[in-house]
Amino acid sequence: MEEAKKMVAKLELVSLKEMGDDRGWLVVFEKGLNIPFDVKRCFFIYGTKEGLARGFHAHKKSKQMLVSVSGSVEIHCEANGKKEVYLLDAPNKGLFLEGMVWHTMENFSSDCVLMVLADDYYNEDDYIRNYDEFCALTNKENAK
Ligand code: TYD
Repeated sequence: MEEAKKMVAKLELVSLKEMGDDRGWLVVFEKGLNIPFDVKRCFFIYGTKEGLARGFHAHKKSKQMLVSVSGSVEIHCEANGKKEVYLLDAPNKGLFLEGMVWHTMENFSSDCVLMVLADDYYNEDDYIRNYDEFCALTNKENAK
């Protein structure tokens, strides 16, 4: 718990360079160029039922880059005492999250394919899935 408390969360909306020509578009993720970690895992969330929200967790340590490669989704984040909503509605927009960011994914369009790149293997111990625990770990008093 002490370890998680010291973590400062980082959130950054990254604009990815689109390389287009008369054939269409190409977007690249490359370590050091626009992604600040080694990618060990990639997963996709798609076919999310209308009106459903997912997520409702924070990670103690892991770093992630979220990109809606098709369609759109809102990422509702709470970190460092602030709440912010990021709209991912284009394949050239990445949302970088590190550390204690409570997040939910909401308002998925029916065609949304949300790709997540992560710096580590899946480990349930890295998850905080209880909002009150998140508040306690981040010294937040006003649990919802
Ligand atoms: P879950 O964490 O509930 O998804 P979300 O919070 O994004 O809505 O994950 C759904 C299931 O998939 C759950 O049983 C854990 C499993 N899972 C893996 O096995 N590996 C992974 O990398 C991820 C992200 C999930």
